[in-house]
Amino acid sequence: MKNIIVFKGDITNLNVDIIVNAANETLLGGGGVDGVIHRKAGKELLEECKKLNGCNTGEAKMTNAYRLPCDKIIHTVGPIYRDGQYNEKQLLESCYKNCIKLAKEYQKENKLNIVKIAFPCISTGVYRFPKDLACEIAVNTIKKIIDDNIVVVFVCYEEIDYQLYMKEVHNIEID
Ligand code: APR
Repeated sequence: MKNIIVFKGDITNLNVDIIVNAANETLLGGGGVDGVIHRKAGKELLEECKKLNGCNTGEAKMTNAYRLPCDKIIHTVGPIYRDGQYNEKQLLESCYKNCIKLAKEYQKENKLNIVKIAFPCISTGVYRFPKDLACEIAVNTIKKIIDDNIVVVFVCYEEIDYQLYMKEVHNIEID
């Protein structure tokens, strides 16, 4: 699909409309990509997040991006992977669906023909979601719900994720 891009690097450097943060339910920051986003966006981000009263797993909330090059941040809370018997798949799907829902609202409010949104590999770090399964869920969910007016960038920070996404999105095997 022409409007799905696989990119290897740091999501905080992307000059897209929206970047997605893999947050936790407090929305008060943490490690991983959450830590980098908060550190680079500046303390105003935390001040705005404090007013949001957290976010349930599978849901998403939007804030400004402050010192980051993107315009907005959508914070979503992925599931902590246990053994696949605790609705993890549906909750991860829900993260992608709710982020796209907010992106479409943003697109309408700002009268944009095209909205560009970048996702990290949600739940695949601290939350221990198996990377291959998470990649399959992410790509299949996005393919089902986006139209031609949305460009999705899957940002892979680790080589393993990049290889998984290149295979899943473009059917390209990297040795
Ligand atoms: N840009 C893009 N992706 C990144 C970056 C970055 N700068 N830094 C890390 N990542 C990738 C990781 O390599 C991983 O593939 O983000 C993916 C998600 O990993 P985590 O950030 O650990 O997020 P997650 O597994 O969803 O766990 C969320 O971790 O950081 C805390 O506060 C966060 O409690 C929450 C939990």
